[in-house]
Amino acid sequence: MKRELVISKIERGTVIDHINAGKALLVLRILGIGVGSKDTVTLAMNVPSKKMGKKDIVKVANKFIGEEELNKIALIAPKATINLIESYEVKRKFKVKLPDFIEGILRCPNRNCITNSREPVTPKFYIKLKDDVVTAKCYYCNKVIRNVDEFVI
Ligand SMILES: Nc1ncnc2c1ncn2[C@@H]1O[C@H](COP(=O)(O)OP(=O)(O)OP(=O)(O)O)[C@@H](O)[C@H]1O
Ligand SMILES: [Mg+2]
Ligand SMILES: [Zn+2]
Repeated sequence: MKRELVISKIERGTVIDHINAGKALLVLRILGIGVGSKDTVTLAMNVPSKKMGKKDIVKVANKFIGEEELNKIALIAPKATINLIESYEVKRKFKVKLPDFIEGILRCPNRNCITNSREPVTPKFYIKLKDDVVTAKCYYCNKVIRNVDEFVI
């Protein structure tokens, strides 16, 4: 017997597949989808995957999210696959690519950093992949973050 996960198909929009298990809510946060958002979003967390054991999936109907914005997802889900859906079919598929520099998205853990001052400036980070781990280095104070998940704004 073939047991499949059933989430209704979308006619058009963006499907973010192969998200690390349990990280879908962080993906939504990075995309700015949250309380009060009007987008039609379906999401599956910790579902079985042949490639990953378990994974999360996010589907945003009627919206084609820009590639630059989607690439920010690589910070917390480096194996994510983007599928652009039109007429119920996958029209384009690509893997997210880790940006080498980001603005916003993360906050700097250094309390004395100018990004945490009374008149804060937008945090900026250099991004690197070291031994399969994403690290972010603050543009202003050089503080290195190795657990980026915990510093998503
Ligand atoms: N019309 C649709 N509406 C919603 N989700 C869709 C639609 N078509 C495909 N998907 C989802 O998009 C993802 C990619 O679909 P595809 O048919 O390419 O599967 P696949 O062969 O398993 O791809 P991959 O090799 O990337 O895992 C899957 O998670 C699938 O459920
Ligand atoms: Mg698949
Ligand atoms: Zn800093």
